[in-house]
Amino acid sequence: MEYKVSFVNYKQQYRNLKEEMDKKIQKTLEEGNLILRGDVEEFEKNLAAFVGTKYAVGLNSGTDALILSLRAAGIKEGDEVITVSHTFMASIASIVHVGAKPVLIDVKEDFTIDVNEIEKAITARTKAVLPVHLNGRVCNMERIMEIAKAHNLIVIEDAAQALGAEFRGKKAGSFGLAGCFSFYPAKILGSYGDAGAVTTNDETVAEKVRLFRDHGQKTKTEIVCFGWTARLDNLQAACLNVKFKYLPEWIKRRREIASLYGKGLSGIPQIQSPYALSDSDHFDVFQNYVLRAEKRDGLFSFLKEKGVETLIKDPIPCHKHPNLNLSNFSLPFSEQLAKEVISLPMYPELTQEQIDYVINCIGEFYSK
Ligand SMILES: Cc1ncc(COP(=O)(O)O)c(C=O)c1O
Repeated sequence: MEYKVSFVNYKQQYRNLKEEMDKKIQKTLEEGNLILRGDVEEFEKNLAAFVGTKYAVGLNSGTDALILSLRAAGIKEGDEVITVSHTFMASIASIVHVGAKPVLIDVKEDFTIDVNEIEKAITARTKAVLPVHLNGRVCNMERIMEIAKAHNLIVIEDAAQALGAEFRGKKAGSFGLAGCFSFYPAKILGSYGDAGAVTTNDETVAEKVRLFRDHGQKTKTEIVCFGWTARLDNLQAACLNVKFKYLPEWIKRRREIASLYGKGLSGIPQIQSPYALSDSDHFDVFQNYVLRAEKRDGLFSFLKEKGVETLIKDPIPCHKHPNLNLSNFSLPFSEQLAKEVISLPMYPELTQEQIDYVINCIGEFYSK
């Protein structure tokens, strides 16, 4: 089905960058620069400078960024890590993959971790907090760092959805021991496949993640630990470097679209728009534009009929999947959100006409 407004539009972004991108891809292939070449290094420099950390290490996904950061931080079997259920499953899975136990708590109105719940969840086994900057909004990192300091906990930020987002002037991925980013195609900065990175100010963490991503090889002949294949592909890095210079412009456009959606939808009492939560502490980058909507499933079907593609990402909360052994957690607000949230199309290439159309269709649904 051809949508009037699709949920993502990879083709249009490629068309806009085609000349520059094709040239870069061709050059990279002609030079045979495929694994850990200069483009990866250049990307790491770009990312560290943008986020404001000393180091960035390119990886092949955001999930690897989380797993390898937790491992580099020494999180292991028997440890507990506090995070949220209202997130993409990778935040929780990464904790399980290092052998630790995820301890899930609720989020607040803006979908970020409820900082008032963190201390209640701390036990003698708690080693880390993993806040998730969901939808492009940074958690209250000042409070989280205070709690972490008071209880001697490590903080690993899941910044997969928050490249460029800030809390009180400081960027996502620069607060904790490590920040974990995803460059999945739909992300603010998206590759042409899978890609991720860790940012950190800690030299040891950077070094460990670098070793882990490449089989523990310090040099071609010296292996200092067991590792994985988790490198950022050089070709993806080359493409990401082309896109990097557009990042500020794309973020600006996302914020403009959020403002247009926010204003256009403000008169509809049946929905709550994230734009209404904008405040001076947060610089949101709107990776996703997620509404809380009455009659959410009806709205989804109506918009589909109208040619507007939306996404109901997690109708089952992460902790309610029966095979994952997480159902002991009771998180009323996260469970409520799973029934209410719906993501609207949000990408810089959206036209004014498309934005107006989405707003009008939502208005039409609730005026029926
Ligand atoms: C919050 C969050 N954490 C982690 C990830 C995992 O990233 P990746 O898909 O690159 O492994 C994602 C990806 O969508 C995400 O949104």
